Amino acid sequence: MTRIFPLLLATTTLLLATSSTAQSNREHPSTGLHSLFVAAGKLYFGTATETNNLDDPTYQNILSNPLEFGQQTPENSQKWGLIQPNPGDFAFNNSDLITDLSKSYNHLLRCHTLTWHSQLPPFVSASSWTPDTLRQLLTTHITAVVSHFGSACYAWDVVNEALNENGTLRSSVFLDVLGEEYIALSFNIAAGAAPPETKLYYNDFNLETSPQKQTAAVELVKSLQAQGVKIDGVGLQAHFTVGQTPSLESLTATLRRFTDLGVDVAWTELDVAHEDVENSSELAVEQQAEDYVAAVRACIEVERCVGVTVWQFTDKYSWVPGTFPGKGDACLWTADYQRKSAYWAVKGFLEGWVARMNMTGALVGGNGTGIKTVTGSKGTFVGVTSGTGRLVGSVSVGLISSCVWLALKMI
Ligand code: XIL
Repeated sequence: MTRIFPLLLATTTLLLATSSTAQSNREHPSTGLHSLFVAAGKLYFGTATETNNLDDPTYQNILSNPLEFGQQTPENSQKWGLIQPNPGDFAFNNSDLITDLSKSYNHLLRCHTLTWHSQLPPFVSASSWTPDTLRQLLTTHITAVVSHFGSACYAWDVVNEALNENGTLRSSVFLDVLGEEYIALSFNIAAGAAPPETKLYYNDFNLETSPQKQTAAVELVKSLQAQGVKIDGVGLQAHFTVGQTPSLESLTATLRRFTDLGVDVAWTELDVAHEDVENSSELAVEQQAEDYVAAVRACIEVERCVGVTVWQFTDKYSWVPGTFPGKGDACLWTADYQRKSAYWAVKGFLEGWVARMNMTGALVGGNGTGIKTVTGSKGTFVGVTSGTGRLVGSVSVGLISSCVWLALKMI
């Protein structure tokens, strides 16, 4: 008993300290999605946002939290129909508000989007163009918009959704009048107007789930590269459905098909919608968490995946229910700003990942003898490091508490 008492006292003190730290971490977190993602070696964790979210203080509180977010994308205000609704009539007010917001929150701005078949004003989609007049129109639009934002844009989604599911090029005013050349043309005009450091992206959906579309996007990038066109990245929108999200292995393989071409990749519009919100089960809630973790982890595992953007962080402003009736609850926060299981799962995964990185760092040359505690997805662990910082061993707090319980029973 006399020998076991100091051990019991030390262990109990450690346990109490660890559990009270875990508790206060939830109430007063010192980390968030962005800070952890950066610690894991990525550039940003971001979100789509829009000017109709500006007068919502709870929303802005979360968006401006530098631990949670480090990047934003204007959800609509840079699209052609809103930014040049009539010929020569450029309406930058709303997109300027988002640019200012991104600056005041110190967020990177992904700019979205220049050449897209959707959300076009009637003067573009419903006029009859010749190849020459349409080339001129693209030149005027892209040059004016890209020059206006200048270095505020970390990246531009230059061409959006040019492909059909079967891998053919999607019919649009641009394809129908100009043929495939409109894609290279858009990139060339953007490259001519943007500062050289601006990343120019091709962006599309279902590249993760539709093999023919994925292959066509790979071929598209190769063809642009062969023509000497500046293309820096491929944005994969990642609009997923709970339970139908590809596996981690499949997601990493998809990202690597593009990074093998020498371009960056990013999840640009991530959300994971419940197929049938009315009837979604507890199980579906857990599945949603796993799906989010798979996407975030795939980005971490692929070196040239620079970041993740969620397409709004709260169900309050998600585009999903309005566009896909019956589907929804796709975001990390509920409509009344509660963090969901998916949020905690992503955060827990990132904490575990970063802690393992730190421990590995200690193994290869950290310094100082000591006891480290780390909390990850598998619980809290206590590790002992030697004088060179080498990790001598670690044990889960769950195991320690079982030992204490056993020792108490034996006394
Ligand atoms: C969506 C917006 O979220 C909605 O508010 C809008 O009504 C329609 O567009 N792919 C894209 C995004 O590239 O621009 C789309 O955003 C979602 C699909």
